[in-house]
Amino acid sequence: MDVIFPDIPAYKGWMKPLRVESNVEGMELIAGRVPESIDGTWYRAGPDRQYPPMLGSDIFIDGEGMAHMFRIRDGAVTYRSRWVRNDRFNVQAQAGRSLFGLYRNRFTDDPSVKGVSGGTANTNVIFHNGRLLVLKEDDLPFEVDRDTLDPIGRYDYDGKIRATSLTAHPKWYPDDGRLLTYSYQAKGDGSRDIVFYDIDDEGNILDEIWFEMPYASIVHDFAVTPNWAVFPFMPLITDIEALKRGSTFYQWHPDEQVVVALVRRGGTAADIRWFRGPAGTISHMMNAWEEDGKVHLDACYYDGNCFPFFPTPQGEHVEGCPAFLSRLTFDLARNDESFDRRRIIDIPGEMPRTDDRFQGENCRNGFLIVDRAPDGSSAVGCVDLASGDLRMWRPGARASVHEPQFVPRHAGAAKGDGWLLVIVNRLDANHSELAILDAQDIEAGPVALLHMPVRVRSTFHGTFVDGEKLRTRQPG
Ligand SMILES: [Fe+2]
Repeated sequence: MDVIFPDIPAYKGWMKPLRVESNVEGMELIAGRVPESIDGTWYRAGPDRQYPPMLGSDIFIDGEGMAHMFRIRDGAVTYRSRWVRNDRFNVQAQAGRSLFGLYRNRFTDDPSVKGVSGGTANTNVIFHNGRLLVLKEDDLPFEVDRDTLDPIGRYDYDGKIRATSLTAHPKWYPDDGRLLTYSYQAKGDGSRDIVFYDIDDEGNILDEIWFEMPYASIVHDFAVTPNWAVFPFMPLITDIEALKRGSTFYQWHPDEQVVVALVRRGGTAADIRWFRGPAGTISHMMNAWEEDGKVHLDACYYDGNCFPFFPTPQGEHVEGCPAFLSRLTFDLARNDESFDRRRIIDIPGEMPRTDDRFQGENCRNGFLIVDRAPDGSSAVGCVDLASGDLRMWRPGARASVHEPQFVPRHAGAAKGDGWLLVIVNRLDANHSELAILDAQDIEAGPVALLHMPVRVRSTFHGTFVDGEKLRTRQPG
């Protein structure tokens, strides 16, 4: 079968599918020096396209997963990328074409893949229970080899996960290996069931709380504090009957409310505190923490639909709107179910991160992608979360950045003291670079800039894993 991608923006220019697996031993240094104190591997995942879409076009987030790894040690960096060879990838490789139709709409798939998971394994990579796991929110984790990225298999914690999927946005604690995670639409597409899990570093489930969402919502990310798990529900809703008629997996309901559930860790569904606000979208979380009977959530907030490619039930495509890093405050003493919201910075931004060791605690600095310009360029931002002060590093005209990754300055460094790893897209030169910044002073520009002879088409999220942990094969 001819492999011809449609002539649409989703598959042109920088977004042209790359479909290449790479090995680069000893990445070429353009400027500066790689800090000798960095010892570990940065894993990331993103969408590529194995074959042209079965139905002529598809949304950007539906590409098959490509896993990437940068191993950094003794001032040198190696890079490797590999397709995530899960069930979907393998059945399509055998057929030589795409077999899955619209994003997550099983009713549009080729009949030959009935019962085969459509999970793309393209969203995030974590290291838990001694396993490197690639994640996509509509599937169980897929384990790959930590050194080669070769496939190992789907992982359900030895049958202990009863949900049909696990989120791509768990909170993982590098110091003790605890994983706080969840599944939404947890009993199948369109179900209102959701479950919160707290899993230790040996894969034992310490806490499992099932409850019902107000509607069959998207729940892309969540946040945790020592006492609470914070779940946002927003009116991108799945309707099975509409799916049977060929609709998109989610439909936007501007007449519905945003609903936030604060689930008490160690509690039950009866202990949940509910909060409500006007329709909007809460996408990625920076962090959450508790203070004087309140829970604060710093997150990227859209005043409308963050995914304009999901129309209303009437088929109307509403216009996209920017995300602003915002603080949502839930006052547990207030009984009217309302919450407060204010912007932390006044320019749009997305893909927020902190030093992962701060999850659930108040922290000083957060990092995100900001200031997208008409030429396609963007900058890395460092936000003082108390004052709203924003510092930026922009790699230049026609250069954009991926989600930044905080790395401790050295093993055992104080929280917040470290480096920032950033993949840079040189849009005209058609290749990428790896930039290493001092997280305390990103405006100074990279302490090291390394050339990549290939383009990293897109990555969503990733994790840095300490080298000693990987070498000694400790659980993490
Ligand atoms: Fe995400």
